[in-house]
Amino acid sequence: MSDDAVDKGKRRFLVQMTTIVGGAGAVGLAVPFVRSMNPSARAEAAGAPVAVDISKLQPGEMVTVEWRKKPVWIVNRTDQNLADLAKLEDKLADPASEGSIQPEYAKNQYRANDKNKNILVMEGICTHLGCSPKYRPEIGVVDFDSDWSGGFFCPCHGSKFDLAGRVYAGVPAPTNLPVPPFRFIDESTVLIGVDPEGVA
Ligand code: FES
Repeated sequence: MSDDAVDKGKRRFLVQMTTIVGGAGAVGLAVPFVRSMNPSARAEAAGAPVAVDISKLQPGEMVTVEWRKKPVWIVNRTDQNLADLAKLEDKLADPASEGSIQPEYAKNQYRANDKNKNILVMEGICTHLGCSPKYRPEIGVVDFDSDWSGGFFCPCHGSKFDLAGRVYAGVPAPTNLPVPPFRFIDESTVLIGVDPEGVA
């Protein structure tokens, strides 16, 4: 892929509206409730934390918000998704996230905060050359894998990540997708950019 094409991939997420994606093969669509997720332009410019209402995010759905000019995904993983993560370790380059970026409290199999393991919060930028991977929640045979358990696929050069953002072995991306700091304000609100209380 040419550098130009990669740049276009980067640009795409910069202009991307907040979208919610869910279900096998679903395409992104704008949803009214996510409008309340957008921080003010000034707060966004300053890199302020972003509060996201996840009360309407159904199991299997993903929402994309912007934090510090980067796309951040929030995925409501199903219990089956969590169970499947344990079966993937042999296929992964860094299953324990030793060489990857995440807060200490998210350095676990789910790469999640203990308060709600189903919720994945992840920077949506490929660790290869910065394209924005696609959410591919399907299970089974897909166009790029004959035994897919759901995750993210980067069409730029074919990198694959599981539903914890852990990179598959043998693809160009060198590390897992980064997890930003985040905390739950309550059951239905995630604050991106701030560690949980009590974390230094
Ligand atoms: S940018 Fe190359 S695989 Fe994602």
